[in-house]
Amino acid sequence: RRTPLIAGNWKMNLDHLQAIAFVQKLAWNLKDANHDFAAVEVAVFPPFTDLRSVQTLVSADKLPLAFGAQDVSAQDSGAYTGEISGAFLAQLECQYVIIGHSERRTLHNETDEQVAAKVTAALKHNLVPLICVGESAEDLATHGPSAVPVAQLRAALAGVTNAADIVVAYEPVWAIGSGQAATPEQAEQVAAALRGVLTETLGQDVADKTRILYGGSVKSGNIAAFMREPNVDGALVGGASLDIPEFSSIIRYHK
Ligand code: 13P
Repeated sequence: RRTPLIAGNWKMNLDHLQAIAFVQKLAWNLKDANHDFAAVEVAVFPPFTDLRSVQTLVSADKLPLAFGAQDVSAQDSGAYTGEISGAFLAQLECQYVIIGHSERRTLHNETDEQVAAKVTAALKHNLVPLICVGESAEDLATHGPSAVPVAQLRAALAGVTNAADIVVAYEPVWAIGSGQAATPEQAEQVAAALRGVLTETLGQDVADKTRILYGGSVKSGNIAAFMREPNVDGALVGGASLDIPEFSSIIRYHK
């Protein structure tokens, strides 16, 4: 059985001082509630400038929280102004890195090829890529529910050959920040199709152990229904991950 993962994508919110207070409070809240971190894994994705502070706090207090960055360069080092190497993230003990979030694809014109190159770079530096795929409302109307996410995942895995530790997040663009989440049935349908892509490209064993998350207007009120779907193994939470009681309730969805 796959260990569920509840991940908080902070996007461009919380500076490094706010991050320290936030992570401390979140950890206390979950410990007070006796959260079993082995049963439901928790990860946060702060801005780059917060990562050193989060690393220091997590390691000093031995917090059972995973963390990662929201993006990574496809390059290792060199004349790439503004880019962040996977080597730097690994050095900061990041375990994960989000790749191909729809906000990067749309606002920064990130292509499937760039996403694939970033996935390869992340794996090279022993970071677990959290690969985001998802269709726009227009895609949904034109191509139906699974076509675009399936094509995006195939493309993202183009350079991945051997059995790899990866996480996939299905985030329909129309559900992100809209308050209008997909239905659990919609999420399951696409997650099942994405698992098919994993089976095809990386084999049954990897497909069986890979977590597929749903993202897009996840709240404490709808998380349990998503988690009941057999192919949905967690959530990538945006807005609601910035509210400690709310995020904590999402993490403790089974209570
Ligand atoms: P919301 O949870 O705010 O809809 O954002 C989802 C998301 O984009 C997480 O990466």
